[in-house]
Amino acid sequence: MSVLSGVRMLEFPQRGDERGHLVIVEGNKDIPFDIKRIFYIYGSEKDVIRGNHANRNSEFVLINVAGKSKVKVKDGKGNEAVFSLERPHTGIYLPKMVWKEMYDFSEDSVLLCLASTYYDAKEYIRDYSEFLKIIGE
Ligand code: TYD
Repeated sequence: MSVLSGVRMLEFPQRGDERGHLVIVEGNKDIPFDIKRIFYIYGSEKDVIRGNHANRNSEFVLINVAGKSKVKVKDGKGNEAVFSLERPHTGIYLPKMVWKEMYDFSEDSVLLCLASTYYDAKEYIRDYSEFLKIIGE
């Protein structure tokens, strides 16, 4: 159980065999939303910090399908936690309105992001003080 309400690691079904690994992620089954969008991040240097935003409407699941990275989440009420993503059959669920930072990317990191919404720049909060203000309201 995480200190941040709603944020949690997910484990996905594996159906690998002697031919190799196979991991299944079905919307509304293995993750708690309909998948509307996927994007993936790779080629980020180790010292890069990505994310640095919260989303008013979007939920995400982040999976390092290759390599490793870390995700720091903050709820704006003084709670924060760091999760390591390093196994392709696990992911982190991020509900709406949590501040997130992705960092410490390994050279081979491929971070797959599943989102519950189509992209809408207006629902991104990219200013931390604005995030704190909205949480405080
Ligand atoms: P950004 O949100 O800064 O990436 P991250 O949070 O993963 O570090 O997005 C980088 C650019 O890509 C920015 O110009 C917005 C654009 N973008 C889209 O057009 N659609 C998308 O679904 C995403 C995630 C980003």
